[in-house]
Amino acid sequence: MLDPAAPAAVHETLDPADLEGLRALAHRMVDDAFGDLTGLADRPVWRPFPEDLAPRFETPAPRTGVGVEAAYERYRTDVRPYLMGNDHPRFWGWYTGNGTMVGALGAFLAAAANPNLGGGNHAAVRVEQQVVRWCAELLGFPLDAGGLMVGGASMANLVGWTVARHVHAGVDVRAEDVAAMPEPLVAYASEEVHSCHKRSAELLGLGAHALRLIPTDDAYRIDLAALRRAIDEDRAAGRKPFLVVGNAGTINTGAIDDLDGIADLCAADGLRFHVDGAIGAMIGLAPALAPLMRGIERADSVALDLHKWMHVPFEAGMVLVRDADAQREAFATSPAYLAHAPRGLAGGATWLTDFGLELSRDFKALKVRLSWLDRGVDAYGRMMQRNVDQAHHLAARVEREPLLELMAPVGLDIVCFRVHPEGWSEERLDALNRELLMRSHESGVAVPSYTTLDGKYCLRVAIGNHRSTFADFDLFVDALLAMVPQIEA
Ligand SMILES: Cc1ncc(COP(=O)(O)O)c(C=O)c1O
Repeated sequence: MLDPAAPAAVHETLDPADLEGLRALAHRMVDDAFGDLTGLADRPVWRPFPEDLAPRFETPAPRTGVGVEAAYERYRTDVRPYLMGNDHPRFWGWYTGNGTMVGALGAFLAAAANPNLGGGNHAAVRVEQQVVRWCAELLGFPLDAGGLMVGGASMANLVGWTVARHVHAGVDVRAEDVAAMPEPLVAYASEEVHSCHKRSAELLGLGAHALRLIPTDDAYRIDLAALRRAIDEDRAAGRKPFLVVGNAGTINTGAIDDLDGIADLCAADGLRFHVDGAIGAMIGLAPALAPLMRGIERADSVALDLHKWMHVPFEAGMVLVRDADAQREAFATSPAYLAHAPRGLAGGATWLTDFGLELSRDFKALKVRLSWLDRGVDAYGRMMQRNVDQAHHLAARVEREPLLELMAPVGLDIVCFRVHPEGWSEERLDALNRELLMRSHESGVAVPSYTTLDGKYCLRVAIGNHRSTFADFDLFVDALLAMVPQIEA
């Protein structure tokens, strides 16, 4: 044990002895990160991780350090070049935002100050409450709605489901359990709903079967008549319909359900209305697109992903709940060690941990606040509109090219298509398009992703990119068409 009286005893902390050296390195890191952004379009979108680097990731835990300079050099050489590539103008995979430098600086500042947003009376809580209120305002929600920043829409949807279960269980489902509910609860969403909703049903003990998947129309929007029938059938069979999830931009094709129609149905039947707005909730920022979101303001809760189309660096999910008390009642606990004090740091009317699952919570809201104060949210609306226009530009090119086939109507900024040489069997088409996807990634030309629509494999370009130019889409199509003869040969 260290003898505190010993003259040589040093007070060791994790602050570096050479603070100025670290400051200089920090400046270099920022310079390098800015450098990474220049000339992005001329670099490959993605590069495979070189397997000869793998041993560097299999070393034992470092009992003694090598110093931050060396650690940073390893990051520059072994990690940075082989990341996902979603900062690139031709990254259109899954649905992934680009992020921004201002957002990254916000994330740095948040980590540098390092407050914990579980609770307490400090300014970071005010920032999160402000950002939640901004989102409520932009969606037409009441300004006193409950809300919380979470990792992403999977968690935001789970929070929405949990509040809905709490409100409709018919018993105190927190004290008892789902077996004590007088009737089994049933929820509804279209067949196109994201898989995280099935997980919510599973995690809440309702069972995956409690989520009824309703067929869609030709544009992949929920069929309201089929929804009506399913609800009536469940009621007649002694089950309790409790929740309808509306899609504000489906993951496959960007389809938007008739949110107003769902809101009418829920209001008439006393069901809870939750909107999965991970992709499209903020589309109202683009004036010409705002009508597509009509009805979202009537939801009981909404899940948003600000790290998608709002380009906040990961993670930046959010849930809004119209009735803040219901949200608190579904989650709050009051152990003695978390009791709120009337004054001091342990004071504060709202402890954000009472509104969700996590106690320790990072300062996500700062990167949002910094970004939005920087450019104003209308700038995001302009870029959303451009992405939607780019989706139509790509779709028009696809329709002009005899070798290409558009696979679904363009939903928001998502285009699904495939290469379709005449006379090829479905099996060969499937193999061809899978190969094209991999070559597109491996050549570094672009990163689209893929999906299956009506059993047919297709390429899926989910734009959500503030750096893409119209020319990027033509470059991609040209490259794709040039690959086909090489595969056919
Ligand atoms: C419509 C929709 N809902 C939910 C999710 C899950 O969001 P996250 O990945 O942020 O958890 C996604 C992800 O792409 C999505 O597109």
